[in-house]
Amino acid sequence: MALDFTFGGTLKIPLCVAPMFLVSNPQMTLAACSRGIMCGFPAHSTRTHADFVHWLNEMETGVAKLDAPAPWAINLVLHRTNERLEADLALCIERKVPIVLTSKGAPNDVFAKIHDYGGLVFHDVASARHAEIASEAGADALIAISSGAGGKSGTVNPFALLNEIRQVTEKPIILAGGMSTGRDVLAAEVMGARMAYIGTRFIAASESLSDAYTDQIMVESSAKDLLFSTALTGAPQHWVKSTLVEEGINPDELLSMRPGSRVKPTAAKARHSRVKTAGQGIGMIRSVETVGDLCDQIVAEYHNAKKEFSAQQSR
Ligand SMILES: Cc1cc2nc3c(=O)[nH]c(=O)nc-3n(C[C@H](O)[C@H](O)[C@H](O)COP(=O)(O)O)c2cc1C
Repeated sequence: MALDFTFGGTLKIPLCVAPMFLVSNPQMTLAACSRGIMCGFPAHSTRTHADFVHWLNEMETGVAKLDAPAPWAINLVLHRTNERLEADLALCIERKVPIVLTSKGAPNDVFAKIHDYGGLVFHDVASARHAEIASEAGADALIAISSGAGGKSGTVNPFALLNEIRQVTEKPIILAGGMSTGRDVLAAEVMGARMAYIGTRFIAASESLSDAYTDQIMVESSAKDLLFSTALTGAPQHWVKSTLVEEGINPDELLSMRPGSRVKPTAAKARHSRVKTAGQGIGMIRSVETVGDLCDQIVAEYHNAKKEFSAQQSR
């Protein structure tokens, strides 16, 4: 049966606020869900598995108080370096987390375990090959990470990526990378995506885990202030140049370094790092705003853009 991307009419527009390490948390997720926007947080944003239990409790209590909330999700990193995967997955299964957003790694039997309790799995892909593998493993939707995305970025232009993925699978696609506005969400739909996945725009939201230092950098920076490199974590990522310099890293040197040679990609190191990643949509962060205000703004922009687009079409 085709997946209902309105989630029983609870979504105001086809948008998911993407999970972000050391940014997303239950407060953000509940705020977005209460405004009719899907949202999720990474299990590994918590320091320990016990903290993850507390955050899930907070989510369940919070959601129970909301009237017709949009769906919420947990992000699990499938990479073999994630030592908590087994325990975090077991907890998602026990609590029947409605949607699991999986990233970085092979699906193995994780998708089947989530399907067994009735959960949905949306998996990150950055190429047609990834899409083929995730599709065969039974993902319910594919999150196409295109170039310009924050966190672990894609490297392929969004038009090209969607066209390539469509050649290998008919699974629904959620588009990610560089989007910030309601007009962008509509554009993603016109491109054939069923949903837009926006992270960066929400980094400096007042409910997020981001501190005042990070918020200020986000507000002051734009796309020209980012450096794209695989040298820090081994993954393609956009880094805010001024935060590299602050940490004594010469951005020019990174350009000639081998992937992962500057810092090993351990969660513990990333947690203490003041080097900041963001997507190319960073220029749209102009102030610290609440998640609710951001969601309402994006919903209004979406409807205005839709009206403008229909008027254009009928001319
Ligand atoms: C600061 C930051 C942290 C992120 N952490 C994660 C993460 O822990 N897990 C994950 O699957 N994606 C992570 N992402 C990627 C987002 O889920 C999403 O794919 C991306 O933000 C979409 O592109 P955009 O930032 O251009 O909107 C992160 C992104 C950012 C900006």
